[in-house]
Amino acid sequence: MFLAFSLIWMCLGGPLAAQAPRTFTLSVDTQQPIATIQPNMYGIFFEDINFGADGGLYAELIKNRSFEFENPLVGWIPFGRVTIETQNPCFEKNPHYVRLQTTPESVRTTGTGLSNEGFRGIGLQEGKVYTLSFYARSNAGKAVVQVQAVDAQNNSRVTVEVPVTSAEWERYTANVTSDVTDAHAQLRLRLLQGEDVCLDHISLFPQDTWKQRPQGMRADLAQTLSDLHPGVFRFPGGCIVEGTTEATRYQWKNTVGPVENRPFNLNRWYYTFDYKFFPDYYQSYGLGFFEYFQLCEDFGADALPVLNCGMMCQYQDGPAVPLDRLQPYVDDALDLIAFANDPADTHWGSVRAQMGHPEPFGLKMIAIGNEQWGPGYPERLAVFVKAIRAKYPDIKIIGSSGPSAAGDKFDYLWPEMKRLEVDLVDEHYYMAPEWFFANAGRYDTYDRKGPKVFAGEFAAHDYPQGKANTFYAALSEAAFMTGLERNADVVHLATYAPLLAHKEAWQWNPDLIWFDNFSVVRTVNYYVQQLYAHYRGTHALATTCDGSDLRGENGLYATSCLDKDNNRLIVKMVNAHPEACNVNLQCLLGKGRKAYVPASEGSLITLQSSDLTAQNTFENPDLLVPVTRPLSVPGGDLTLSLAGYSFTVIVIPLK
Ligand code: AHR
Repeated sequence: MFLAFSLIWMCLGGPLAAQAPRTFTLSVDTQQPIATIQPNMYGIFFEDINFGADGGLYAELIKNRSFEFENPLVGWIPFGRVTIETQNPCFEKNPHYVRLQTTPESVRTTGTGLSNEGFRGIGLQEGKVYTLSFYARSNAGKAVVQVQAVDAQNNSRVTVEVPVTSAEWERYTANVTSDVTDAHAQLRLRLLQGEDVCLDHISLFPQDTWKQRPQGMRADLAQTLSDLHPGVFRFPGGCIVEGTTEATRYQWKNTVGPVENRPFNLNRWYYTFDYKFFPDYYQSYGLGFFEYFQLCEDFGADALPVLNCGMMCQYQDGPAVPLDRLQPYVDDALDLIAFANDPADTHWGSVRAQMGHPEPFGLKMIAIGNEQWGPGYPERLAVFVKAIRAKYPDIKIIGSSGPSAAGDKFDYLWPEMKRLEVDLVDEHYYMAPEWFFANAGRYDTYDRKGPKVFAGEFAAHDYPQGKANTFYAALSEAAFMTGLERNADVVHLATYAPLLAHKEAWQWNPDLIWFDNFSVVRTVNYYVQQLYAHYRGTHALATTCDGSDLRGENGLYATSCLDKDNNRLIVKMVNAHPEACNVNLQCLLGKGRKAYVPASEGSLITLQSSDLTAQNTFENPDLLVPVTRPLSVPGGDLTLSLAGYSFTVIVIPLK
């Protein structure tokens, strides 16, 4: 039993109006799903690159709050007698703190204090409340610290005075309402009274954070991620998982527990590119593994943590750990699963519980390694696979196919991943839009019996446009993704990369979301990802088209799916041709065919531009947004116009 819909495409084949429109017939068999679409198929990949975590999603406004950068005063401008000390520290793992002293000279001249420049400035908004906090002690047991916001013109704005009342370390807090709107403010602290004061973990957060969690995430950025409806959330990287040395690799155990005692680490995007050098880029781990799991829960996304496999970044000639020293790395993987899933009365379960989440997070999968290559990788991965299968047989394991979409490394690793029987293989491709248009059929011939595919990092790089987030790039991604959906039996997960970029502090482009200290720009690529995730069906449907193979011939790409959860049919189409098409959609109800009857009202969502270089900007963030119109399907027949250069989603409720 089936119902076939026919789409008659009448595309104008060229500039001559007299030319007969080409006709394409698209048939959708709603009774014969060709693949089950994973409920978590479309997701997000988060890495602390482009100041995406510190200075980005993590709402802390003070840079180098613990004085732990290799130059402990990076981000700070001291005046008077300011020293960095480590004796009798407040935090064992972040032992440096700052000491301000009053001297006869400082009394007569500058006073003593220091200002923090924030992350390309501190974004303050008039009328909003900010929570200031620091740990302090004074030898005499009494001092007064004056705290001022300073605007970009160096005018002192709101001022508070915080009495320090002990010779022992104590935490002091104050709520401050800003009297200025300035994206590039500073915070100045001055020893107003007393001979000395020691300060550590100087922190400033907006009170209004995501889900109102104190010292939490930036609300607008978290909301932007949530609006993508991610099914899966890969974290924390990327290259930062690998690090360049063993010491600078990402170690999740350093990212849990009280934030004050999470040891700072270099961020490798500090020095990765000579032409983009960022000596003020560190990881505070305020956004750590607990917070990542919590965000997954907030978004309804499955967590996909990536752990170091015992190999540091191969692009940077990083070392590989000898096999006889691999056990701590394997333990990190096993302990992470325990941290996420074990009951609260176990060791790792209790660490999670103490952080406020006694219930397990329900981790289902883990990736071992990022962009590795060569025999050293499967050799090490095999040890992890054996240990994880033995202790946690239900956890899915994701292996890597290397850094590129094809080539020697890729060809070597895929058979190795099959041999090791990993569940999914992570593929990465940063390629030109033409590659994406040409590769919509990439997965049509993939082996159906081996591991599934995780398209873990992909983005179209529009080189002639400086790799900007152009409509052309986004259109090519939309076209390519018709092939992901059509092959949902083998492609289980897909995440664009990278996710976030600070307008004034980025290392890599394009990126899905741009932000500055106040605002957020959703790129047109963002909307492509959002449309796929929001209009994800449950079953991909056999979709055929007379006169076109649906893989780009004549500029036409299409996929259709049934959404059994919401009882609707979804057709996604990309017209990569400059000319508009007249589209005639016919819902054919043949003899004896009954099950799915189109309702009269549907909707049509279009993302379109005749300018392939167009992009959303801070000045014009809504230039390219999906436009939704009602769609009438009288008796199952439909005629519509498909604009030139457009991505269109048709949603037809079924009775
Ligand atoms: O997404 C940016 C980087 O690209 C990732 O860190 C790495 O995995 C890839 O090379």
